[in-house]
Amino acid sequence: MENRTWAQEILDRICRKEVRVVERNADKIPYTTQDGVFDDWSAPDRICWWTNGFWAGQLWLLYHAYGVESFRHTAEKIEEKLDANLMNHMGMDHDSGFKWLLTSGANFAETGREASKNRLMLAAGNLAGRLNPAAGLIRAWNDPGTGDTAGWAIIDCMMNLPLLYRASEMTKDPRFRQIAMCHADHAGKAFVRKDGSVAHIVTFDPETGEITGTRGGQGMREGSSWTRGQSWALYGFALSYRHTGKREYLDIARKVADYVLSQIPESGIVPVDFLQPADCDYEDSTAAAIFACGLLELGKENGKYADAAVRLLRTLAEKRCCFDEEQDHFLEKCTAAYHDEKHNFTIIYGDYFFTEALLKLTGKDLFLW
Ligand code: GLY
Repeated sequence: MENRTWAQEILDRICRKEVRVVERNADKIPYTTQDGVFDDWSAPDRICWWTNGFWAGQLWLLYHAYGVESFRHTAEKIEEKLDANLMNHMGMDHDSGFKWLLTSGANFAETGREASKNRLMLAAGNLAGRLNPAAGLIRAWNDPGTGDTAGWAIIDCMMNLPLLYRASEMTKDPRFRQIAMCHADHAGKAFVRKDGSVAHIVTFDPETGEITGTRGGQGMREGSSWTRGQSWALYGFALSYRHTGKREYLDIARKVADYVLSQIPESGIVPVDFLQPADCDYEDSTAAAIFACGLLELGKENGKYADAAVRLLRTLAEKRCCFDEEQDHFLEKCTAAYHDEKHNFTIIYGDYFFTEALLKLTGKDLFLW
């Protein structure tokens, strides 16, 4: 079947199922499922979790394409709950783009609500303030005032830079874009290796900015190739190119993409780390879905990337997607980190990026980044 028609059919099934999922989960902010039932991260001690914008984002994407009102209502409730995170400075880190672009950014794009714009700007101001000017990099996580992670930056942050690009677009103030480009310029040098693979964590001296090393982070080990990290780099640099037109970012995104395409096994099933042992069965379907989004972005200028994206999406749909309307999730066999105890489970951002990629294929996506 032709790709666009195929993607449309899968999306119709996703939308039909999501109507049922929303009916039984209207008050939750899910991260994963237990026996097919969403868990809930709305409680005060969980509200700052970095994935809390993804389900709302997925619902906004589907609302844009299908106009189902219950999707919008549920997404708006999640956006309001996230105000508790905006008022908690320890819960504000490099991941603000994931949380507020997919909630407030989507709401502002669809409805023009001032309250949503306000939230976006508060989040953007906080993210901009995390730049370490000596290193030219945005700080990643917080620590309880010990400074232990004051000199840590992570590749994931590339996906949050669009919050800053959008803040400049909204205010006509270039500072946010300048800070995003400062991070992207330095990240291109500090994270991306000669072969196109990327490190997860780069450490630097927070006083002098001198780069002191890299860490394996959520991958197998230092120097290895954590697949979701590769996907954040691929899509993140492609998005920085889309927002700025700076050719260097496109070149980096292509370099990472070429490396990734050389590593994805014939089966199309994406492991947690490209360097993991052959007999290790850890998978990460989220990385496959994010690769597809990034490859479709690059595919606008080079068909080989779009073809690779479609192969990944068809593999996910055929082998790793649950269309059973009694289960709350879609993608299966996702993994948060190589050294975690748990592997191959369901994770909400897998569903988000799978839906986004399919919508890109049909030309009906709401561009939230
Ligand atoms: N941002 C953290 C992760 O990709 O798991």
